[in-house]
Amino acid sequence: MKILGKFPSTRLRRTRKKDWVRRLVSENNLSTDDLILPIFIRDGKNKIEKIKTMPGINRYSIDKVNKVVENACKKKIPLIALFPYTPNKKKNNIGTEALNEDNLVCKALRSIKKNFNEIGVMCDVALDPYTNHGHDGILKDQDVHNDKTLEILKKQSLLQAQMGCDIIAPSDMMDGRVGVIRKILDKNNFEDTKILSYAVKYASNFYGPFRDAVGSNKKLKGNKKSYQMDFKNCNEALREVGFDIKEGADMVMVKPGMPYLDIIKLIKDNFKIPVFSYQVSGEYSLIKNGIKNKLINNEAILESLISFKRAGSSAIITYFALEIADKIKNN
Ligand code: PBG
Repeated sequence: MKILGKFPSTRLRRTRKKDWVRRLVSENNLSTDDLILPIFIRDGKNKIEKIKTMPGINRYSIDKVNKVVENACKKKIPLIALFPYTPNKKKNNIGTEALNEDNLVCKALRSIKKNFNEIGVMCDVALDPYTNHGHDGILKDQDVHNDKTLEILKKQSLLQAQMGCDIIAPSDMMDGRVGVIRKILDKNNFEDTKILSYAVKYASNFYGPFRDAVGSNKKLKGNKKSYQMDFKNCNEALREVGFDIKEGADMVMVKPGMPYLDIIKLIKDNFKIPVFSYQVSGEYSLIKNGIKNKLINNEAILESLISFKRAGSSAIITYFALEIADKIKNN
């Protein structure tokens, strides 16, 4: 591949001189089709509650969620992701509430599916919003027990599919979960329900604001290093993705986002499967606070999102989805 020319006949600045020519030669772009909007839901009626650690982001009671979804539809955002803030009294050590067909996620799914059919809904599969210890699975001898957890996760997945969930997104990092989930879905005639595996989820320090948002932060005992990946590793990411594809994943996710652009690219180059990225809560709040404090300007949002596209992402879960959708339209 010949990419070099010679100065002065070759001047790379020539194609940077004006906005129209920059637009003409741009290699990547962001469209609203690339966006996934996360929505936090809470109990009660007529409630819109600010999340302190995530400026500009709220928790909505189910009657208020429809307005947000309507807004997302209007902006042509293809997919929303639901995250519940479960009241403390409904949490226990095995996360039973995850299997309650009247839990927040199930109620929201029914309501959204009744009112909208042009937007997809994805739901996390993991127990952390429901356990009183904040871990994603069932504890045994102070560690999350893989196979006992799988038993609940597959039931949680089936329930969400029955409630109308379009994309089941296991975020728990148990071994073998994609396989058992695919199997139970297929056995119950949900062969078209998709699986987006959080295949590469690192034990990250960027999840703090999210854990506040779903109320698991103060509860979390210890850390999640015995199941989420070590941030020193990348070969292991390939093994995770390889297994999940074999087990039936339709799409895979890399999480967090910006510190892991190399991983997104590595996976895209090695497996020709849709790769999604998750610009997580810590990344969001850092950028948002930077803008608020005038350390960086607003364009940093677009820059951060384009970096995922450059790395090879098909879509991005981002708390900036609504905000940036307006901007893209105006461009
Ligand atoms: C839990 C889950 C987490 C996030 C999404 N699903 C946090 C965790 O693993 O502790 C984090 C998302 C974010 O930080 O925005 N299974």
